[in-house]
Amino acid sequence: MSISHPIATAATVYTAGLLDTSAPLLLRYADGRTRELPVALWASAWHPADDGLLDRCTGPTLDVGCGPGRLTVALAARGVPVLGVDITPDVVQLARDRGALVLARSVFDRLPGTGRWATALLADGNLGIGGDPLTLLRRLAVLLSPRGVALVELDPPDVPGRAVRVRLEHAGQVSGWFAWAHVNPAGIGLLAAHSGLTVTERWSDHHRWFVALSRQAAPAAAEAEAKSEARGQRAGSRQARLLRSARHPAPADCWRQTRDSANRCEKETAHDPS
Ligand SMILES: C[S@@+](CC[C@H](N)C(=O)[O-])C[C@H]1O[C@@H](n2cnc3c(N)ncnc32)[C@H](O)[C@@H]1O
Repeated sequence: MSISHPIATAATVYTAGLLDTSAPLLLRYADGRTRELPVALWASAWHPADDGLLDRCTGPTLDVGCGPGRLTVALAARGVPVLGVDITPDVVQLARDRGALVLARSVFDRLPGTGRWATALLADGNLGIGGDPLTLLRRLAVLLSPRGVALVELDPPDVPGRAVRVRLEHAGQVSGWFAWAHVNPAGIGLLAAHSGLTVTERWSDHHRWFVALSRQAAPAAAEAEAKSEARGQRAGSRQARLLRSARHPAPADCWRQTRDSANRCEKETAHDPS
């Protein structure tokens, strides 16, 4: 079936959505459903739930997927040493124009301060970057100092944890499909435990959900978290069914398996769903 829109890069559609908020920036799933992305929040200077994140950044902080730099700028204003990192060049420029110190680079590329960051921020659902949260959390564990903490914003509890294929749409522009992932509060502990991290704190604020993940926490805490999630899985959540249905029970395989399913789903629905 032919596609009626020319395909743009995700970076182009994302940047257009940030610069022109008169039209919604939509995330479209392979099954045709859409979700409006909160670009007004990303382009803003502050959200009330940001303070909980900012208050917990106590040392040199890496703002991963900093976008136009809302949190990077706010941390610098508090006197916290902070570096943003983002792969979208025009958005990096927006952040720099606001005074943020930002590297135009992927979080998976070589970064300064590897193994020495006190805090790594993954705000605004950025745990979805790359569609493989286990790999991303393991990368954060490498970037953090031995006493470092990752502050991670999760999807809401009612969003099923899973790997997905998505594309961006804005004012008639459509991107190609790319991998993303949703991780909710029920699913983070097990992923963290398999990344060398432990959930040391959970909080929610203004309908946003967060965890602090520590590199240096008692192994007992990791075990308790994993056991509690295993109990939840036995109770039959959708995320648990995905985990159980994996041939190999390690989370990496589970996420890859669900991503493969999403790829298959995309091939099966290879049409313009709009
Ligand atoms: C949900 S938006 C983040 C919004 C941002 N936190 C803010 O305050 O506006 C996701 C961001 O992740 C960036 N991104 C995607 N893949 C990345 C990667 N591999 N490394 C670094 N940044 C990435 C995108 O360019 C985008 O700016």
